[in-house]
Amino acid sequence: MIASGPGLFDDLPPSADRVDIGAQACLLRGFAGGRDTAFRRAIDAVAGQADFRNMQTPGGGRMSAAMTSCGGYGWVTDRRGYRYAAADPESGAPWPAMPRLFAMLAAKAASHAGFDAFEPDACLVNRYAVGARMGLHQDKDEADYDHPIVSVSLGLPAVFLWGGLRRADKPERLLLEHGDVLVWGGADRLRYHGIAPVKAGFHPFAGEQRINLTLRRSQ
Ligand code: SIN
Ligand code: FE2
Repeated sequence: MIASGPGLFDDLPPSADRVDIGAQACLLRGFAGGRDTAFRRAIDAVAGQADFRNMQTPGGGRMSAAMTSCGGYGWVTDRRGYRYAAADPESGAPWPAMPRLFAMLAAKAASHAGFDAFEPDACLVNRYAVGARMGLHQDKDEADYDHPIVSVSLGLPAVFLWGGLRRADKPERLLLEHGDVLVWGGADRLRYHGIAPVKAGFHPFAGEQRINLTLRRSQ
């Protein structure tokens, strides 16, 4: 169990700006807002131990988003494929510990979306420079699809492509802004999703970048 710390996220109204985007998926607008200093410190601490890198895809290209991870497991890709690894392949060291802020926020957001007792063991941190994108994909490297995905957007806005259960389903376009949190699970757990190329801009949190935290139960 992740203990509920005094004050942390207890101040949120029970249904803070919740937009349903599926039977078991919702956008919690601004859910992660107002904690910029804590997020900045936590992200810098993670990147200080395991720096962002543009990983290789199985096909031989490079991810346009730079990535790192924290928690017991990190998501990695290379010529051998996509998987979760308990150690950072760059250093051989365990991934940095998951900041309590991330785990607490994820559990709270999941619970708002109807998924109780979510305990992430992996947090992928994606950093998008202007022009970086993520193609339509399903999150399916996790052992058990009963757990939801919680995704936190920080810095520059981006258009989230929210597809269906088939790759060919035409995606909806949802604007994600600083502090927005998406949760999807259950019937929506394997929906295709992606990020359209990030447009030029400046945001006080991350300058000319977008940062995304994707929290998952990988094992
Ligand atoms: C992902 O699907 O892994 C990232 C989505 C995002 O950056 O919002
Ligand atoms: Fe994903």
